[in-house]
Amino acid sequence: MAYIAPSILAADFSRLGELVLETEKGGADRVHIDVMDGHFVPNLSMGSVVVKGLRPVTKRPLEVHLMVERPASFLDGFVAAGADTIIFHIEVVPEPLELIQHIRGSLGKKVGLAFNPDYPIDKIEPYLTDIDLVLCMTVFPGFGGQAYIPESTARIRQLRRWINEQNPKCEIEVDGGIDVHTIVATSAAGANVFVAGTAIFGSKYGPAVATANLLALATIAVE
Ligand code: DX5
Ligand code: ZN
Repeated sequence: MAYIAPSILAADFSRLGELVLETEKGGADRVHIDVMDGHFVPNLSMGSVVVKGLRPVTKRPLEVHLMVERPASFLDGFVAAGADTIIFHIEVVPEPLELIQHIRGSLGKKVGLAFNPDYPIDKIEPYLTDIDLVLCMTVFPGFGGQAYIPESTARIRQLRRWINEQNPKCEIEVDGGIDVHTIVATSAAGANVFVAGTAIFGSKYGPAVATANLLALATIAVE
């Protein structure tokens, strides 16, 4: 099963709620909220107020991608605002088990482990049975509209092998440069959740058609 997670980073914020509902019409499974602190990545994006604003608009899960140096300090605010899934970067929490268990246990939310294109994936393997998803960055995070890093495809393939052996329920989510071309390669390699910002909110066909198109391509690629 393939899932599309539109990244609102690329959306027109003056019409955010309306655009998110458009992606739902196209079959979007969840909303991907890219939080950047200007330290872990060289950009500043949005805080929990955006989750609070979107919560009454959509019933779809809101997943928060924390591209921040101190993810633990933001958890309560995002959970109170209505976040369903918290994704943090292992680069800033090298021993992530305690935070994983806190998010899943005390906060009762889904948890994802994110890592950049240069992070060794064998360091992710020990946690695959403790998490709900891996977020395999296919660009260096910070900005939408970047080009997919082709070396990512082999990493996705290896992650799929490990997950099929150890925890088939764990999702493989890819984020960065996912469009009508790269979604086929990443889906065939084993990804099943696709973050797309520019390819959805920058599409001349509008968010609903762009989302439906990506979903169809991702689904066909695994048949
Ligand atoms: C990190 C962000 C972006 C964004 C997707 O920079 O996580 O990857 O969500 O951006 P697009 O789909 O426009 O490449
Ligand atoms: Zn993201």
